[in-house]
Amino acid sequence: MTTDYKPIPTAGSETGLDVLKDMLRARSFLAALRSMHTNVGALFKVTLPGFQPIVLVGPENNRKMLVSQRDQFDWRTESDAVTGLLRRGVLVVDGDEHDLYRDLMNPALVRRAVPQHVPAMSAETDRVITQWRDGQTVDMLVEMRKVALLILMRTLYGVDFMPDMERLWKPILKLLKYISPGLWIVWPTMPRPQYRRAIKTVDDYLYRIIRERRNNSQMGSADDLLGRLIAHPAMTDDLIRDQLLTMMIAGHDTSTALMAWIWVMLGTHPDTLMQVQTEIDTVIGTDQPAEEHMHPLSYCDQVIKETLRMYPPIHIGNRRANTDIPIDAYQIPEQSRVMYSIYTTHRDPEQWENPDKFEPERFCPHIREKRPALAYVPFGGGPRNCIGAAFSQIEAKVIMARVLQQFELEPLQNKVHPHMGATLEPRPGVKIRVHKRS
Ligand code: HEM
Repeated sequence: MTTDYKPIPTAGSETGLDVLKDMLRARSFLAALRSMHTNVGALFKVTLPGFQPIVLVGPENNRKMLVSQRDQFDWRTESDAVTGLLRRGVLVVDGDEHDLYRDLMNPALVRRAVPQHVPAMSAETDRVITQWRDGQTVDMLVEMRKVALLILMRTLYGVDFMPDMERLWKPILKLLKYISPGLWIVWPTMPRPQYRRAIKTVDDYLYRIIRERRNNSQMGSADDLLGRLIAHPAMTDDLIRDQLLTMMIAGHDTSTALMAWIWVMLGTHPDTLMQVQTEIDTVIGTDQPAEEHMHPLSYCDQVIKETLRMYPPIHIGNRRANTDIPIDAYQIPEQSRVMYSIYTTHRDPEQWENPDKFEPERFCPHIREKRPALAYVPFGGGPRNCIGAAFSQIEAKVIMARVLQQFELEPLQNKVHPHMGATLEPRPGVKIRVHKRS
């Protein structure tokens, strides 16, 4: 029996013009995705020269791609810069190999393992923010990256990143640029020698911490993520480097973006800021944040979740069809690049009333329960969902608490736009004047 599939919808000449206008008005590809969703539907093909992914939107399509038909979608694309950089990192391999790395690292990041890191998260935050002077203007996009790097390296790899931060700062930013959307998407074989040095510098550092841990008999079997990788006989130094770089990139740039957006949202919503401040003062007071404070910070939790809805740091998920894939009346041809648009799903008026309004109350438990599960996917979904979802949300609470326990914030520059780099981040930055609380 043959099935007649309909052609994959694209923007016709008239809709194409509307999409283009929307995109130019907002000066963002995100606006084009939303416009395509409104004008063309929940499954459509982008038709840019050299870049023609099929994009899926909405909870039903997310379920197919991430859960029920997930075996038909591979992650790995040999020609992608992300694959080139992360080599055999858990994010960019499929099948049994993926499951091996994921199973190895999961125990260090599951929900019940994360709260033990609250004191370290708090201490690492303090190392950055105690350097802020009263009345100083800081850029939260920069400061939060420092905090996120220190926390990740301390809690997952057991190392102090402070002595290496300055030296590795630019190489890390360069690596992020390497994987950010750019010409390489349409010209995958383009030579990019200007990145070689930065990659080598970060690699040398990672191989050094692997070597040091292998040689440190006392710490060798530590139960942190690095210890778990080292203890497994199949894990060579190269494979461990790939996982460490993956976690370092995926785990700090996303948290940086989330935190930067949280300060943007709090800076532009004074009532929310006041409510967050009151909750932190009531639940923690002037103590150091501890495990038992995390659950009661329920309004902070709603603010984090609503920020992730409006500005998901990973705004799109990328796959490759490993066979012809039927979806509703369409057939996605084998080898197509397929994407699920997290941002567009999060701004879908069918799922969210006033989707462009910042309303943390949407995440009150009784309202949350009524929503289809995969209408909210800041951490993806299904078996390849984010391994760091619990980690990053606890981390965000701790950072919010430490900053607001010690400082009052005076936002200085509210005009930011979402920039599509390796993550979606507020550019040109988040300038805030900080005043020490008495
Ligand atoms: C706000 C913070 C974060 C956000 C928004 C985020 C978002 C995501 C998303 C959307 C995915 C799925 C991508 C896809 O379907 O293709 C993902 C996967 C992943 N994330 Fe995160 N992430 C965050 C923090 C972290 C942290 C802290 C870590 C590590 C410590 C991490 C490590 C990973 C890894 C390794 C994967 C791949 C999982 C797999 O393929 O099995 N992420 N993340």
